Amino acid sequence: MRFDLVTLFPEIFTGYLGQGLLKRAIDRGLVDVRLHNLRDWATDKHRSVDDRPFGGGPGMVIRVDVAVACVEAVRRLDPEPGRLVMLTPQGRRLRQAVVEELAVERRMILLCGRYEGFDERIRQVLQPDEVSLGDFVLNGGEVAAMAVIDAAIRLVPGVLGDEESNQTDSFSGAERLLEFAQYTRPREFRGLEVPPILLGGDHQAIARWREQNRTLRTRQRRADLLENQIPKERENHEPRIAEAGREEQLEG
Ligand code: ADE
Repeated sequence: MRFDLVTLFPEIFTGYLGQGLLKRAIDRGLVDVRLHNLRDWATDKHRSVDDRPFGGGPGMVIRVDVAVACVEAVRRLDPEPGRLVMLTPQGRRLRQAVVEELAVERRMILLCGRYEGFDERIRQVLQPDEVSLGDFVLNGGEVAAMAVIDAAIRLVPGVLGDEESNQTDSFSGAERLLEFAQYTRPREFRGLEVPPILLGGDHQAIARWREQNRTLRTRQRRADLLENQIPKERENHEPRIAEAGREEQLEG
């Protein structure tokens, strides 16, 4: 999967790209990340990428001419046009179902804003898929773009090793519940013991315990996830796409 990051601050990504699962995926050729500095498409002598908003008000707005020239040039770098994702607090909220939808793409162009936002005509011309990290305002889209990449690569075949899996991840699978509680050594710490069933080696009993634990945790912490449950008898008959659509409707 290829990611093209369009940003005014490419250096923000350099540490992130050199660590952990993402670095391993890049080294193994499963993921490719290219950085593009929006400023390289500025045309005036000051290399300006933003300007004051018409009508007045605080802050600066990313210019339509610079952003469109940059994205169109970046698009042409690969025969696969890819999905253009604009990171903005006004986009649809990122959730696992959205990550799953994005992760099927072979290429994603992530457009990160700064300042007060984008000239509205950038949306009109480029028709991006607008994605928000949540109902709060960041100083720019870079952290949100990292979140999209981080979540999406977990779903790229081969990125997680045999030892790791996304199958039991929170918000994943048919039920989209929270993950069950996990324990490792030591067996006892300050009087807190690991549930004995997990030490016994009875795989069926462990699976039952985990199933109950995820449901209980979800009820305690995120009861809203249980409200969105698809009735069990329909689960095997409806494709995932129908489920995603239903969730969007429920979210309103
Ligand atoms: N840019 C600024 N705030 C953001 C948010 N909440 N999500 C995505 N991009 C943003």
